[in-house]
Amino acid sequence: MTFLSVDGLSSKYSSSKGRPVYAVDDVDFELNDGESMGIAGESACGKSTLGLSLIRMLSEGISDGKITFDGVSILDMSESKFDDEYRWKKISMIFQGAMNSLDPVFTINEQFVEILKTHSFNDDSQKIISDAMKSVSLDEHVLKKYPHELSGGMKQRVIIAMALLLKPKFVIADEPTTALDVLIQAQIINLLKSLKKEGMSFMLITHDLAVLSEIADKIGIMYGGQMVEFGSSKQIYKNPKHPYTQGLLESIPTLKGDIPKYIKGIPPSLLDAPTQCRFIERCPLAIEKCKELPPKFKTETGYVRCWLYEDEK
Ligand SMILES: Nc1ncnc2c1ncn2[C@@H]1O[C@H](COP(=O)(O)OP(=O)(O)O)[C@@H](O)[C@H]1O
Ligand SMILES: [Mg+2]
Repeated sequence: MTFLSVDGLSSKYSSSKGRPVYAVDDVDFELNDGESMGIAGESACGKSTLGLSLIRMLSEGISDGKITFDGVSILDMSESKFDDEYRWKKISMIFQGAMNSLDPVFTINEQFVEILKTHSFNDDSQKIISDAMKSVSLDEHVLKKYPHELSGGMKQRVIIAMALLLKPKFVIADEPTTALDVLIQAQIINLLKSLKKEGMSFMLITHDLAVLSEIADKIGIMYGGQMVEFGSSKQIYKNPKHPYTQGLLESIPTLKGDIPKYIKGIPPSLLDAPTQCRFIERCPLAIEKCKELPPKFKTETGYVRCWLYEDEK
C-alpha cells in the first residue's frame, strides 16, 4: 500500500531580486508501507526544501501540488490540524545541522521534557524519553549531560531520538551523517537501518549517493530543483538512466582504485523557471531537443526527465 504520494510538488521562495526561487519544481514520487527513500544531489539543488515541504515547515516559501499521506491530502489541511495530528506525530524531521543547535544551557533531559511540553503530552514523559533513548542505543546517563559533554555521534543520536519521540511513521533525515567521521557515519546509518526494520520509514537526504545503497528502497536524484530521476535503488545503481545520475555514480571512489570522474561545470541558478533541460550545460550527451524542458518519461521502476528516453515512452 502506498502511504506517501507526492504529485507535481513545487515550492518556491521569494528572493530579494523580486523573482521567485524555484527550489522544488514539479516533483513526483511514491512510497509504499515499510519503504525508505534516499534523495541525492549536489548542494543547493532543493533537497532540504523538499524535506521541509513534506513537513510543511518552509519558513518563507509556499508549496503547490499534492501530497497524500495515509490517504489524506496534507497540503489542503489547516495548519492547526496538521500541527495537532501530523507534524512530529506522524511525520518528523531531523534538520540539517541540528546537532549543532542543541541548547548549550540545558541538559539533554530538560530539552526532551521541553519538547514533550510543547506537544502537551500528559502521559509518562520519563518513560517516553527513556524509550526514545533506548531506540537510539544511548545510555540513560546521557540524559543528565549538557550538549558540550557529548561527542558528535552522541549528539546526532540525541537529535534522532528527539525526532522519534512521538513515534512517527515517517522521518525525514536531512544529511544526518555530514560532518561526522566515517566510523560514526556508519554507526548512524546502521542505527537508521535497525529503526527501519522496526517499521519506520525514512527519507534520507544526502549529497553522497554512496551512503544510500544500504538503506534506500527507492532513490530520487535531484538536480536544479527537479527530480531528474526516480526509481528503485537497485535500478538506479545498476542501470542509471539520467546522464546526471550516471555522472554522480562515476564520481564515487571505488575499491578497485579507478580514479573517480567529476562532473564539470556548476548547477544552474534556480531564479527562473526552466525552459530547457536544467542539466544541458553540463551534459555530455545533450542533443538539440534538450533546449526544450524534458517531461517525465517512464522507466522500469520510476521516471527520468531526459529526452534520450523519449522513444521508450
Ligand atoms: N529561506 C530561503 N529563502 C530563499 N531562498 C532559499 C531559502 N532556503 C533555500 N533557498 C534557496 O533554494 C535553493 C535550494 O536550497 P536547499 O533546499 O537548501 O538545497 P539543498 O538542501 O539541496 O542544499 C537554493 O538555491 C537556496 O539558495
Ligand atoms: Mg540541504
